[in-house]
Amino acid sequence: MTGQAANAKLMQAFLSDDLIFHPSPEFRNNANVQDARIYLDAEENWLQYWDKEAGNLHWFKKWDRTLEWEQPFAKWFVGGKLNAAYNCIDRHLREGRKNKAAIIFEGEPGDSRVLTYQDLYREVTKFANVLKDLGVQKGDRVSLYMPMIPELPIAMLACARIGAVHSVVFGGFAAEALRDRINDAGSKIVITTDGGYRRGKILPMKKNVDTALEENTTVEKVIVVKRTGAEIDMVAGRDLWYHQLMEDAVIGCPAEAVGAEDMLFILYTSGTTGKPKGVVHSTGGYLVGASSTHRMVFDIKEDDIYWCTADIGWITGHSYVVYGPLANGATTVLFEGAPDYPARDRFWAIIEKYAVTVLYTAPTAIRAFMKWGEQWPAGRDLSSLRLLGSVGEPINPEAWLWYHEQIGRGRCPIVDTWWQTETGHIMISSLPGITAAKPGSASIPLPGLELDVVDPAGRPMPAGQSGFLVIKRPWPGMLGTIYKDAQRYVDQYWGRFENMYFTGDRALKDKDGYFWVLGRVDDVINVSGHRISTMEVESALVDHPAVAEAAVIGKKHEIKGQAISAFVTLRDNYTYTDQLVKELKAHVASKIGALARPDDIFLTAELPKTRSGKIMRRLLRDIADGKTLGDISTLANPETIMQLKEQYAE
Ligand code: PRX
Repeated sequence: MTGQAANAKLMQAFLSDDLIFHPSPEFRNNANVQDARIYLDAEENWLQYWDKEAGNLHWFKKWDRTLEWEQPFAKWFVGGKLNAAYNCIDRHLREGRKNKAAIIFEGEPGDSRVLTYQDLYREVTKFANVLKDLGVQKGDRVSLYMPMIPELPIAMLACARIGAVHSVVFGGFAAEALRDRINDAGSKIVITTDGGYRRGKILPMKKNVDTALEENTTVEKVIVVKRTGAEIDMVAGRDLWYHQLMEDAVIGCPAEAVGAEDMLFILYTSGTTGKPKGVVHSTGGYLVGASSTHRMVFDIKEDDIYWCTADIGWITGHSYVVYGPLANGATTVLFEGAPDYPARDRFWAIIEKYAVTVLYTAPTAIRAFMKWGEQWPAGRDLSSLRLLGSVGEPINPEAWLWYHEQIGRGRCPIVDTWWQTETGHIMISSLPGITAAKPGSASIPLPGLELDVVDPAGRPMPAGQSGFLVIKRPWPGMLGTIYKDAQRYVDQYWGRFENMYFTGDRALKDKDGYFWVLGRVDDVINVSGHRISTMEVESALVDHPAVAEAAVIGKKHEIKGQAISAFVTLRDNYTYTDQLVKELKAHVASKIGALARPDDIFLTAELPKTRSGKIMRRLLRDIADGKTLGDISTLANPETIMQLKEQYAE
């Protein structure tokens, strides 16, 4: 059957509403989890379930209590002592993995490096000693602003080894966004590079750090990894070369026994205000959750070559490029570049080159691959693949089916994994050996977890009706708090419903109990799986001298899932020009990063507002999605919205 014919058949099955994919007997018989009783057993005693999972890690001191729950603050594995780097490296040296590849690195230009667990031990302990020599102590924050090169996980693990807290900032963020994140964390050290490769160009990472640090008072040293050889300024007394520091560093550094509740990292994510939230993850619960879910959902075996394509600057990279796979002693692929450079078959070339067995990527990438055409994967040997994963946004059934057929060649189960920066690890996903998959649904919560869909009063919704997605009991990887803003943590996640964590997502449960996540209900846009707050983009726009007021919305986009549309009113003395629109887009990119650049900006005399002055974003969203307008009777200026609708249609 040709790819197209197979796809047409699958689409037909989907439309007839009976499209379910059961694991093959062969997959099931070899799976890490084969018995569906795991759900019932975990349900019967969920604390005991997590206790057992925690037993897979190495603890310097066993915990006294599994959970202390003073809503909304949870303490997991209280009294336990461990070290994340020790779990990701040292214990594997004793368990026969000394010469096993821990990290397979593929650089954008095609350079490649393999680090065994022994190599990782050497590099991490040396760099841990470098940090110590520079005065970094337990609890100190270190900001990392780097491309996807081995020195990034090395630096993360070196921080973890000495009990310092890392805060990784995605390399695509602009100087100002970086500055806010360094300042909020109060970092002592920043680690960066002389640039990173992106589609043949070099990203000016060091220059962004220099700008970000202009008025900074906490950062003492900047450590620079030489990656590209690009010319950069080194500030005397502050900036140090990584390779020079490493030359004299000693191998071997004790792994600090930290408390299970001690902070492992801060990761900033967008919320509903303009200010990013520093999501705090602790060591014990996070590592238990990340490693346990990684082993079960990805069915990890000793000889797997596992590749998660996410950037480490996001939570997916933290949990499923670094901590989950390394804690499990797996081989993890690290890729620096883009899927279409130098050609549109780069992913497939990498799978062929390293014989990747498990691939975890995002719907936005899959939709781009679909658009580029099946000739790209068709020309490569993908026979090593045995399992596929998806994350970041709902995967539309068409993309699911294409992924299944063109990449999995009809053989590989797909796990659609729902989770968030705040949850730390996967919460809803099929277990590939036992759960049947329905394309478009993330399926059911993993064992030991309790999620539900509720109405505004917190009552469970009947099957098939959409409501708010909530989590009803604590889970090990849950965020501890928002850094320096516990009140925001309480209000944001626990203020909406009594006794439940509110995810910010809308979802429904079908008659089989499968969860279908439908998108966000708050002012967060999901662009290519990246969370962007409308407020952040709005503040970047009004920061421009020409802009009086701005309203930003997410509109449907074929590949990115959502794209950013902005509606802007100008100050007096400024007139509409195409040049100004370009300038405003560039302004947003320069303040936040290219990921936040609006696709389109509409200049308008007025924004639609209620009589109390609130901007009606809902109506703007309707216009952008080409829907018929909802109720406009509460508008103070109904004529505005009609004009905008006409303008948009042009
Ligand atoms: O809306 C959901 C969507 O991404 C949000 C979390 O974004 P972030 O914290 O950046 O983490 C992304 C990677 C874990 C969620 O609130 N989301 C994530 N995965 C899925 C999803 N929506 C539907 N299906 C998914 N599999």
